[in-house]
Amino acid sequence: MRVLNPVSPLSGDIASFFNNMFALSCVIFGLVAVLLVLALLRYRARPGYTTPAIQASGHTLLEIGWTAIPLLIVTVIFVFTVKAMYRTAPAELIRTPDVQITGHQWWWEVRYPNGAYTANEIHVPVGKRVNAWILGGDVIHDFWVPELGPKMDAVPGRTNSLWIEADRPGTYLGACAEYCGTEHAWMLIRVMAQPPADFAAWLAAQARPPAAPSAGDALRGAQLFRDRTCINCHAIAGTDATSRVGPDLSHIASRTTLGAGIIENTPENLARWIADPQKIKRGVLMPDLQLSDEDVRAITAYMETLK
Ligand code: CUA
Repeated sequence: MRVLNPVSPLSGDIASFFNNMFALSCVIFGLVAVLLVLALLRYRARPGYTTPAIQASGHTLLEIGWTAIPLLIVTVIFVFTVKAMYRTAPAELIRTPDVQITGHQWWWEVRYPNGAYTANEIHVPVGKRVNAWILGGDVIHDFWVPELGPKMDAVPGRTNSLWIEADRPGTYLGACAEYCGTEHAWMLIRVMAQPPADFAAWLAAQARPPAAPSAGDALRGAQLFRDRTCINCHAIAGTDATSRVGPDLSHIASRTTLGAGIIENTPENLARWIADPQKIKRGVLMPDLQLSDEDVRAITAYMETLK
């Protein structure tokens, strides 16, 4: 139950609100159960039972009571809900986001103001309230990292604001929480909270173009990347690959997973993915390019240089 394990003031607010509502529900359930049992015992049919001569119908005070009390309870819940919503999410659109997160079928594009692009892994500095934009690239997705804060829909054509905050360093798992097609289950989110200095170093490194390969398989891989149409969908900083249909690959070797969390990012897995992504993530929009084993090896070698 990650949602009840808050690691930020935002998720803490949500968890305590849930706990209070749960406690209130338990009290109401207990009260109703006790009254029900009492009524059953008191008014049960006994030997020699006959229908009472006086039949009562309607009781104005009771009826007003059982309408007014629930109304009062629902009003209190409503007020606390609205308060929690205002405390855990920006009330209006953030003008200058610290990060832009776009939901795509089936991965998350992550963009920072310094020009860095990454995918599925969102680095944030610990202890800072990060202002995020949540955007929709194709269909509606929903960004949710339960330990860190509320959910936010990623809607095409709309800009939604969200706060992300983590009190402690660590990796916090999230997922797409709105059904968005075949691979909805595999668009996982990893929020990596780092000490501010580490975060700044990471961010600066991600904005730098990777070193161009100079020889061997990696150099041939860079050529193949252009010739075998990878370039039509993927960008790599510092090269003429600028298309952002699929994830930016400028620093792919520095990421922990492939396919939005479906496999670990190892050289072997990367080679399997390049050879036939459909085998690993059925329905993924990256096609099987029918590459030879040799070409797969060369492209993998190139990707492994993109740290
Ligand atoms: Cu994206 Cu479900």
